[in-house]
Amino acid sequence: MKIRPDVCRAILLTSLGWLVIDVIILFYTLDNSAVQTRNVLRGERLTLEKVDAAAPPSAQVEKQQHKEEHVDPETEEALNKLLAGTSFDTNGPGSNGEGVNIDPSKDAEMKEMFKQNQFNLMASNIISVNRTLPDYRSSKCKTNTDSISVKELPSVSIIIVFHNEAWTTLLRGLYSIIYRSPRSLLEEIILIDDFSDRAHLKKPLDLFLQRLPVPVHIVHLPERSGLIRARLAGSDIAKGKVLLFLDAHIEIVNVLLHQLLM
Ligand SMILES: *[C@@H]1O[C@H](CO)[C@@H](O)[C@H](O)[C@H]1NC(C)=O
Repeated sequence: MKIRPDVCRAILLTSLGWLVIDVIILFYTLDNSAVQTRNVLRGERLTLEKVDAAAPPSAQVEKQQHKEEHVDPETEEALNKLLAGTSFDTNGPGSNGEGVNIDPSKDAEMKEMFKQNQFNLMASNIISVNRTLPDYRSSKCKTNTDSISVKELPSVSIIIVFHNEAWTTLLRGLYSIIYRSPRSLLEEIILIDDFSDRAHLKKPLDLFLQRLPVPVHIVHLPERSGLIRARLAGSDIAKGKVLLFLDAHIEIVNVLLHQLLM
């Protein structure tokens, strides 16, 4: 069979036309977002983001200035009041993970307080925020952390999102992280306040955080954002190589960070 030259030319031109369209489509779909979905460690991602001149979404978020020295007396007083009712004793109520007994005469008050956070707030307020805990890990979970030195592990930013969290549960979580993590691993703790309206989570908390022995940053989101967006706001400012997202009412055991990173 003989193909006429003009048919041949038409076939060639159509193919060429499609090739050009394919290249254009490829060019537009493979923009730099494909580069950024690459699985990279935190440090590398920060460098990538710096190259990207676009303003980060965190620009709308007002970040607290730390180590500001002028403390207004009202905030100081509110914080002192909160701290006066808080036990920091390592061997205080609830030590070694034990429960506390509440007098039956306080039953009605206890049930009323329960409604605030849907857990036994009265018990939480009695339990020391700096209590000791046993090692709760199951035998399957217990690996030998000695095989890798802390020095070889990457730094961690811990990100905690909360909305109207109770004072004592939040502090207990922070203390458990601070005193049960190797300091060299802990780059920082980042708290994201997802638009709470309880007064103790605003200025008194900001002031309290400045006095903790590790870097703690707090961001008060200007509107209710939900857990995932709030976590992203935290990851935007995190400096650690590894990001660890924790709940706001937790206590961690001694080797948690070391073990997670191994
Ligand atoms: C909390 O407990 C740790 C020991 O686990 C201790 O070193 C630290 O001083 C305590 N902090 C306060 C504020 O009592």
